[in-house]
Amino acid sequence: MVVVATTSPAQEEITRLDEALGPTPPVIRCEAGVYPGSVPDFKPAPSDIVRPHPVRQPLRLYVHLPFCNYHCSFCHFATLVSDDRARQERYLDALERELDWIEPGTELSQFFIGGGTPTALPPDLLDRVFGAIDDRVKFVDGVVHTCEVSPESVTEEHLDVLERRGVGRVSMGIQSLDDAVLGSVQRLHTAEQVFSACERIVARGMILNVDLIYGLPGQTHGAFESDLRRMLNRGVHSFTLYALRVRELSSVGRSIEEAKRLDLANLLGWRRFAKRLTDELGLSQVRSHTFKRLDEFTARHERVPCVDPQRGGFQLGVGMSARSHLGHTAFRNHRGFEEYVTSVEQGLSPVAGVIPLDVGDRQAQFAGRTLGELQPLDRGAYTRAFGTSIDDDHADALGRLVGGGLLDDRGDALVLTGLGRLLYERVILNFFPAHAREWLAAHA
Ligand SMILES: C[S@@+](CC[C@H](N)C(=O)[O-])C[C@H]1O[C@@H](n2cnc3c(N)ncnc32)[C@H](O)[C@@H]1O
Ligand code: SF4
Repeated sequence: MVVVATTSPAQEEITRLDEALGPTPPVIRCEAGVYPGSVPDFKPAPSDIVRPHPVRQPLRLYVHLPFCNYHCSFCHFATLVSDDRARQERYLDALERELDWIEPGTELSQFFIGGGTPTALPPDLLDRVFGAIDDRVKFVDGVVHTCEVSPESVTEEHLDVLERRGVGRVSMGIQSLDDAVLGSVQRLHTAEQVFSACERIVARGMILNVDLIYGLPGQTHGAFESDLRRMLNRGVHSFTLYALRVRELSSVGRSIEEAKRLDLANLLGWRRFAKRLTDELGLSQVRSHTFKRLDEFTARHERVPCVDPQRGGFQLGVGMSARSHLGHTAFRNHRGFEEYVTSVEQGLSPVAGVIPLDVGDRQAQFAGRTLGELQPLDRGAYTRAFGTSIDDDHADALGRLVGGGLLDDRGDALVLTGLGRLLYERVILNFFPAHAREWLAAHA
């Protein structure tokens, strides 16, 4: 195995970067680019709240299936460890009822089914979910849809369902191949199960994405490198490389030695290491944390936008905890199983919280998504969307970020530099409105 060299950033560099990045609060639950998902400051919604139907664009759909075979100790998603079929069927009844919001014949631009672990459902129930969607929508031609799976749960029968229902991409959570690391976060699968799942998925002709996390308890750069190389040899097409996001005082946070926690220096160390490794392996960074093989087959999957040029959203999320962004409002469904299912059974709205997105929120979303997708932050596009100048609205942040070598000022546009790409979430936080930063600081 070729070991990629690692170096720790010098304290002097960290002090300089800290100043350039400003006092940014930590983001625990969601990536900073996913505003307002990363600041879930939802206000209670009335029980009869109705989500609007945007008309200009085909809808993007997310379906949340919360069932898992175990609970990983780092995970903040709304999940439920249960193989009780009656409970699963009750959930699907509610989901089908919520899907009635979609008017028959609605065009769907992209579809993502996640959780939880969709393949923790038996294949016939997973098929029922796809059937409920197929009955209501028309898919835009040529778009690749995704289903999440876990290595120990995905069977040949599940893959038959995915193939028959036209799912072109599978995203598998792995996190690590090291038994000790997996055990330390209560994940119950083996490396052998991972390899078998990879081979079976690739053999079906589907694009395979794998999630790995760095910064886990006991994990080393060397073990991470070995995981990535072994996965690539199994035919994986793309990787989502997440930095571990947990509170310091959580059980996982406490189990990590203080010196190994992902503070700015360690985060930068991991990111530099991952960048050198992915470059060496021929993987290209296409989004903040997504690295893809550069071939035509892998390139078939492109994320479809979920906002229009006026920053109006057309993303529907169904199921417990799912979020929607429709027009200029974000909605979040009830997070708990009973609250979600009971509301729908009683004919009430599944929505528990709303965030009306004012202009400051929409600016944060624009900057976050654009930089998170590694795209140039175009001054003209900003002015056309908001009627103001980005230089006036964010003068202090731009001065620090450009001066600190994190953003490159190209005249028409601002672009993340190589260093800025490594610390993208902290760069993006500079565009958040004061209320969002205060909320993050209070919930750190
Ligand atoms: C909703 S999970 C679905 C995958 C599937 N349930 C599994 O774990 O095999 C999506 C991904 O989110 C990432 N994730 C979850 N919690 C995280 C955390 N606290 N920090 C960083 N990444 C996290 C993991 O990489 C996980 O695979
Ligand atoms: S299996 Fe996936 S969704 Fe379930 S708890 Fe673990 S990371 Fe979260």
